[in-house]
Amino acid sequence: MASTTLLAVLLLVAASAAPARSCSPRDLQALLSVKQALGNPSTLSTWTPASPDCCSWDHLRCNDAGRVNNVFIDGADDVRGQIPSAVGGLTELMSLTLFRLAGLTGPIPACLAALSNLQFLTVSHTNVSGAIPESLARLRGLDSVDLSSNQLTGGIPASFADLPSLRSLDLGHNQLTGSIPAGLVQGQFRSLVLSYNQLTGPIPRDDARDEINTVDLSHNKLTGDPSHLFAAGRPIGKVDLSWNYLDFDLSQLVFPPEMTYLDLSHNLIRGTVPLSLERLSTLQKLDLSYNRLCGPLPKGHGVIKHGCKPYAHNQCRKGTPLAGCQDLEWSE
Ligand SMILES: *[C@@H]1O[C@H](CO)[C@@H](O)[C@H](O)[C@H]1NC(C)=O
Repeated sequence: MASTTLLAVLLLVAASAAPARSCSPRDLQALLSVKQALGNPSTLSTWTPASPDCCSWDHLRCNDAGRVNNVFIDGADDVRGQIPSAVGGLTELMSLTLFRLAGLTGPIPACLAALSNLQFLTVSHTNVSGAIPESLARLRGLDSVDLSSNQLTGGIPASFADLPSLRSLDLGHNQLTGSIPAGLVQGQFRSLVLSYNQLTGPIPRDDARDEINTVDLSHNKLTGDPSHLFAAGRPIGKVDLSWNYLDFDLSQLVFPPEMTYLDLSHNLIRGTVPLSLERLSTLQKLDLSYNRLCGPLPKGHGVIKHGCKPYAHNQCRKGTPLAGCQDLEWSE
């Protein structure tokens, strides 16, 4: 009995300490419009005026002021329609996630640019198509943008390079064309993924010194010499530039010693395997296959610990063929 009373008191205290959060009527209206525009999916069955505190609904969170700041709709196969313009009415939204929604079609609406507090935007694994709106770059607080695995076409807006806090950009698995805007591969990025598109032209040069964890530009039609990505003093973790038309001499390249992943396979890379590879002690993945590299192979442990596969299928055009990997392994 005493413990029941204690529990009741505790619950009372907890309830009165919790911030008063009744959902803003404006957000409630916007959410109901969003639900309707998505075809009233059963996934959003808790979104109903019958329970008027929208902060208690599924697939969203509110801030302490009772404003919706996070909406996440994922894995729902009954969602049908376009990204509703009513989303633009959720003006306190910090995070919007629309993930694995095969029935989500049409363009990314320009009205998303009204979400001036947005930091995290994910529209991924959907059938959203059309161009990436230039106006998204008005969202100065954007920290992370994931628009991967959609049907997006057109170019990468150059204005994305001006976003001051963008640390992660993933536009992979779309049908984007044109070149990579200058300044996009900037220091403030921790991760830049543009793989599986149809991007052309060179990888733009920049003077950034900051850390980059991941650069994945694989499976495009990029050309030229990307050596500047590995510039001395720039810590970089994972680099995947495979399946492009990169044509440059690898012989003298000095890789940053902290690299963990390096895939340059399926390009037109010339020269020899650089000596700096010997010092990459933390490298877990290496692939230089399907290029035009020549021999001889440096003998250091960093070169041979990955076996022979990373050097296979190189068609040396001028010089000694890149062979003898097996011999090196046995002599270790
Ligand atoms: C796009 O729509 C097609 C046909 O409805 C579907 O098979 C495919 O899975 C959808 N794509 C994605 C990424 O959901």
